[in-house]
Amino acid sequence: MKKRPFVAANWKMNMTAGETRAWFEAWASLAGTEEADVVVCPPYTALAEAARRAAGIAVHLGGQSLHWEDAGAYTGEISGPMLADAGCRYVIIGHSERRRYFGETDETVQKRIAAAVRSSLRPIVCIGETLAERDKGRTLDVIRLQLDGGLAGLEEETIGGLIFAYEPVWAIGTGRTATPEQAQEVHRAVRGRLAEKIGKAASGYVIILYGGSVKPANARELLRKPDIDGFLVGGASLEAASFGEIVKESIRAYKEVN
Ligand code: PGA
Repeated sequence: MKKRPFVAANWKMNMTAGETRAWFEAWASLAGTEEADVVVCPPYTALAEAARRAAGIAVHLGGQSLHWEDAGAYTGEISGPMLADAGCRYVIIGHSERRRYFGETDETVQKRIAAAVRSSLRPIVCIGETLAERDKGRTLDVIRLQLDGGLAGLEEETIGGLIFAYEPVWAIGTGRTATPEQAQEVHRAVRGRLAEKIGKAASGYVIILYGGSVKPANARELLRKPDIDGFLVGGASLEAASFGEIVKESIRAYKEVN
């Protein structure tokens, strides 16, 4: 039995409070998205507006990152308690843009996961290889290193509650999606490595998302693969209508394979 689809929107550095209001107004007019778990990750400045709009509807909120300390002299940073207070239940950790432009490493990923869990935020942990790594045939090694580094020292119970997002760097924002077969190969390897850490049964429950140029046109074929449980969507999530289509295509695929 495949898991209910989990579809998260990563708005990145887009969307003012006014645009957020308009997005939720458009979302409210869509039907047929109820049979999926839907999460929206706005920029911090739009969280208050998003929390007002998401109240009472089946959309949960997530942060796009968090600091590993709960408070202190870290100018420009946001902490787990702040995200929880702003209405978040989830938080993205280790997105490849954070790794590439802001110096995040597997070690800081591990510290941020621990901080998220302290604040009862469910981490969405991002992993993925670059094009150069894929071309050298190193994809599965890179994924394994990211998993081992990011999860070092974490309790089995913590690992079992994480959500993972496999996002090949070459597919993010490029319009070039991994084929369902390429994505499934990595998703299966991720689940296999998790099985070694937390056991096969527990690894079966872990939600593993795909991210990288997901659109309404490719969501269904991807979600039909056995180890793909949902999506982390960037560009196509900025319009409520296209994000809604992705959610509906995911529900359709889920029903087809169950
Ligand atoms: P994209 O971004 O859908 O625009 O490729 C995905 C992501 O970075 O999470």
